[in-house]
Amino acid sequence: MAVYTHDVLVVGAGLAGMRAAIEAARNGADVALVTKLHPMRSHSGAAQGGINAALGEEDSWESHAFDTVKGSDYLADQDAVEILTREAPANIIELERMGTTFSRVEDGRIAQRPFGGAGFPRTCFIADITGQAILHVVYEQVMKLGITVYEEYFCTSLIVEDGEVRGVVAMPLITGDLVIMQGKAVIMATGGLGRVYAPTTNAIACTGDGMAIAYMAGAPLQDMEFMQFHPTTLKDSGVLMTEGARGEGGHLLNSLGERFMEKYAPNKFELASRDVVSRGEQTEIEEGRGIDGCVLLDVRHLGEEKINERLWQIRELAIDLTNTDMVHEPVKVRPGAHYAMGGIKTNIDCASVMPGLFAAGECANVSVHGSNRLGGNSLLETIVFGRRAGESAARYSKEAASKAPVSEASLARDHTRIQQLVEGAGNSGERPAVIRGELGRMMREDVGIFRTKEQLESALAKVVELKERYQTVRLEDTGKVFNLDLLSIFELGGMLDIAHTMVAGALAREESRGAHTRRDFPERDDEKWMKHTIAHREEDGSPRLEYGDVTMTRWEPEVRTY
Ligand code: FUM
Repeated sequence: MAVYTHDVLVVGAGLAGMRAAIEAARNGADVALVTKLHPMRSHSGAAQGGINAALGEEDSWESHAFDTVKGSDYLADQDAVEILTREAPANIIELERMGTTFSRVEDGRIAQRPFGGAGFPRTCFIADITGQAILHVVYEQVMKLGITVYEEYFCTSLIVEDGEVRGVVAMPLITGDLVIMQGKAVIMATGGLGRVYAPTTNAIACTGDGMAIAYMAGAPLQDMEFMQFHPTTLKDSGVLMTEGARGEGGHLLNSLGERFMEKYAPNKFELASRDVVSRGEQTEIEEGRGIDGCVLLDVRHLGEEKINERLWQIRELAIDLTNTDMVHEPVKVRPGAHYAMGGIKTNIDCASVMPGLFAAGECANVSVHGSNRLGGNSLLETIVFGRRAGESAARYSKEAASKAPVSEASLARDHTRIQQLVEGAGNSGERPAVIRGELGRMMREDVGIFRTKEQLESALAKVVELKERYQTVRLEDTGKVFNLDLLSIFELGGMLDIAHTMVAGALAREESRGAHTRRDFPERDDEKWMKHTIAHREEDGSPRLEYGDVTMTRWEPEVRTY
C-alpha cells in the first residue's frame, strides 16, 4: 500500500487551493496538491466577470467592506470582511505581477466594471474569462515552485487520529487503489456543491466533496441554507451569462419589454445584489411576464465592438447553446443555482475547529458572504483566503510535533465500502444517477429562490428517503481504472449529506435574509436570526443544528434597499 508524506496537503487545485499551496511553499513547507481534476480543469476557470478590489482613487476598502456587509444582509462576519477588502488591492497587484493580463483603460490602468451591489466600479476583469486567465497564471507559479501535484486523485476521507487531522485517504483514478496521504496539516479547497441542484452553473465536478468529507470527520458546516441563484443563466444547460453583461450596461426585460428591475431596485436596476435581481426575475416569471420561463438579457445597445472586446465568451456560448447572437437579439435567461455561501466553518486564519484542518474558497465558510455574496468577491476570497490558509497551515505544520506514521487502518473503512460495492455489483438497487437526478430536481423545486415550510418539509422527507435508497445503490462497473461509476457513488453520498444540512438549515430559519427567502416569513428578523447556523453530523448521518454569533465591527444592521 502506497503512503505519501508531506508537511501540508492541499485538497483541490482551483484558485484557492493553488494559491494556498504557493503560500505554504513560500513559507518553507513541503506541500502537495491532491486534486480530482487536472488543475486547469478546475471550476475557477469558469468564473467570468471579475474580481473585486478598491483600486480607484474615489474608492476605499471601507466602501468595499460596507457593500459586502450590506450585500450579505448583515450576516457576514465583519472582521473577515475587513481582511478581504483591505487585502484586496495588494493581491490584485500581485496577480498582475505574476502575469495576469487584466483588461485596461486607455491610460493603461486596470479597467474596473460596475457589479451588482457595489457603490463603485471595482471589478477588475480579463474580458469575460477572468477565472480562466488567473488560473493559468497561478498554475504557472505552482509549476515554477515545483509543487507536487497528485492529479486525478479523489479523496475519500480525512484521516483523524487522536482528534487531529493527519492526512487523507485518496483513490488515484488511474489505478483505483486507495493510498494514504499523510500530512501535518490539510487544507480543504475543493470548491462548491452546485451539482446538488440541477441545473446549475457549476461544473460536473462541483459535488461538494471537501465539505462532505470534513463534515463526516467532525468539522461543522456553517450557513448551509444560503444558496445563491445567479440572475443570468441559460435555460436548459444552466450555463452562466456573466454579471459583467449588466455591468457593461446590459438590460433585463420582461415579455412587455419593460426594464422590470426598476420596480424592485429603483436606484440600482439590474445592478442590485444578486438575491434581489433573482427574486425580481422570478416574480416576473411567476406573474406571467416571462418568456418560456425566462426573462431577456439585452446587450444589443452596447454594439458589436464592445461585445466582442468584453463579452466575447458569452456571445459565443449563447450562439453555440441557444442559437442566439447577442449582437442582434436578446438572450433568454433565468436565475440558476450558482454559489454556496455556506461551507466548512473556519476562523479568519482559515483554521477549522479540528486541529490540523484548514479550508479556503467556496468549500469554506470564513463568513465573508453571509447570506448573499456580491459578484466578484468569490475570486477575491480564493486569492486572499487561499494565501492566508497556506500561511496558517505552513505555520501549523512547523509547530506540530513529529508524530508516528498514521495507521494503515485509516483506509480500512473506505476499502471495505468499495469491496461491498464491488461484491454487490449489479444488484437490484438503483444506479447513482437516478438518485442524483431526483436530488437535483427536488432541490430546484423545493429549496429554490422562494421557500415555504411545506416545501422544505417535503424536501427533508425526500432527502431522508434518498439517503435510505442510497444504502443499496448499485455499482455496475467493477473495473479499477477510471471507475467513474464508483466515483459517482462516493460523490453522491457526500451530496446527500450536504443537501440534508441545507434543507434542515432552511427549514429551521424562520425569516428571510439574503438568498434565503421564506414566503411564510417574508421579513428579516434580526432579533431572533442574526446568527450563524452550525451543522454537526450525528452518528446516523442527520445534522444537529446549533447557532453562533455574528461578528460585528463597525456596521450596524440597516434596512437593505438598492
Ligand atoms: O457573473 C459572473 O461573472 C460571476 C461572477 C461571480 O460569481 O463572482
